[in-house]
Amino acid sequence: MAAASPSSRGSWGTQFGFIMAAVGSAVGLGNMWRFPYQMAENGGAAFLILYVGMVLLIGLPIMLAEFSVGRGSGKSPIDALVAFGGKKWKPLGMLFVAAGFIILGYYGVIAGWVIQYTWTYLVDGVIVDPGATFGAYATGTNAVMAQVLVMLLTIGVVIGGVQSGIERASVFLMPLLFLILIGLAVYAFFLPGSGAGYAYLFKTDFGALFDFGVLRSAAGQALFSLSLGMGAMLTYASYLSKQDDLPKSAFYIGGADTGVAFIAGLMIFPLIFALGLEGALQGDESIGTVGALFITLPETFSSMGPATGRVVGILFFFALFVAAITSAISLLEVVTSTAIDTLKWSRRKATLIMGSAICLIGIPCAIDLKYLTLYDEIAGEVLLVIGALFISLFVGWRMKNPIEEVQQGTTLGRILPGWRTVLRYVVPPILVFILISQVIKAYTEISNAFGG
Ligand code: TRP
Repeated sequence: MAAASPSSRGSWGTQFGFIMAAVGSAVGLGNMWRFPYQMAENGGAAFLILYVGMVLLIGLPIMLAEFSVGRGSGKSPIDALVAFGGKKWKPLGMLFVAAGFIILGYYGVIAGWVIQYTWTYLVDGVIVDPGATFGAYATGTNAVMAQVLVMLLTIGVVIGGVQSGIERASVFLMPLLFLILIGLAVYAFFLPGSGAGYAYLFKTDFGALFDFGVLRSAAGQALFSLSLGMGAMLTYASYLSKQDDLPKSAFYIGGADTGVAFIAGLMIFPLIFALGLEGALQGDESIGTVGALFITLPETFSSMGPATGRVVGILFFFALFVAAITSAISLLEVVTSTAIDTLKWSRRKATLIMGSAICLIGIPCAIDLKYLTLYDEIAGEVLLVIGALFISLFVGWRMKNPIEEVQQGTTLGRILPGWRTVLRYVVPPILVFILISQVIKAYTEISNAFGG
């Protein structure tokens, strides 16, 4: 079946379904781990203030920019950019697709670790020596098999299409994720000694408000966490109708994403401190690494005792799995929809071939962690910022009537001229600044990983 007419492209059943799918894309490993540790390390409440400021100042404007191109064209990224900007903009669409390939390549590997942990808690109980477990699960045959399983599940959802695949999975999984997280945060609150965890998270340094490094972290985290800069939000918005309210949706999505990140912080640190494991945060598995998520927290769970620890472990890693798989789905959808539109493949063929290709690209990350670092530094930190910069310039300066497009279906029309001004004059300089520092950081970290 050719996928040419707009109706055969698929569409969301409800605006709620779209919002859940977009929140599913946004809520991922970035919320569950990266945000909490960044907040704890970068000035506590001061970081939270800067972060919310960055979500409002650059995150939501860029999200709305992606929405306007997606819904305005009703096309996947490459065709959409060409429709509004001409052939010259095709490379930006190709950059989006390339970023999708690389990010999903390593994201699938990490999600594979999460599946193995969830499974272990389910069938074996608490993990007593998580350092050894992580060593056994993170690379090699186990890691590759788990990654293949994740990709098969992702393919299984995306092949079902927009409404009966992605939307159906998201409206069920996302509310479940919220419930589990809130439940775990409340549980952590009632543990004796959890107060020290809040103190650690909120240990506020108001000097951080004026620290450029902290500002850069907050801005980079906002972009990554909201899934911006690679056409994911653009693609999801291409399945919307003109009755849907784009600015309001952006507020809901940004609010839910920030809320989940904050609740993750309210869960993780109180748990760790209540169980007296804060020492681990200073040890080898320094707090910023993924290792901490797979080592320190499981240590916490096993010190809760075998039964409680097992239940908490199942819930936590299942929630993490939901967060990761719904992000993986949106990454694959960007690539799949592009293959459907530009190569005129059927959804089935596009999903199977592209999903398998991405799986192959990710395999090096499942064999040696230095490739995972490499992929993350290149795509997660640099390509996304370039993508976000150019989509802002595109909608700010090149596209003819983005305001008219967004005006349809919204009750917030008043704010739109201000939105475009921000896209023109505020967002690009901030992104150029982040880009320069991310490139330096990526260069240092890649040469460290490959130098030794
Ligand atoms: N937002 C995801 C997270 O917080 C990661 C991510 C970044 C992403 N860019 C994306 C997910 C694009 C899907 C699409 O973990």
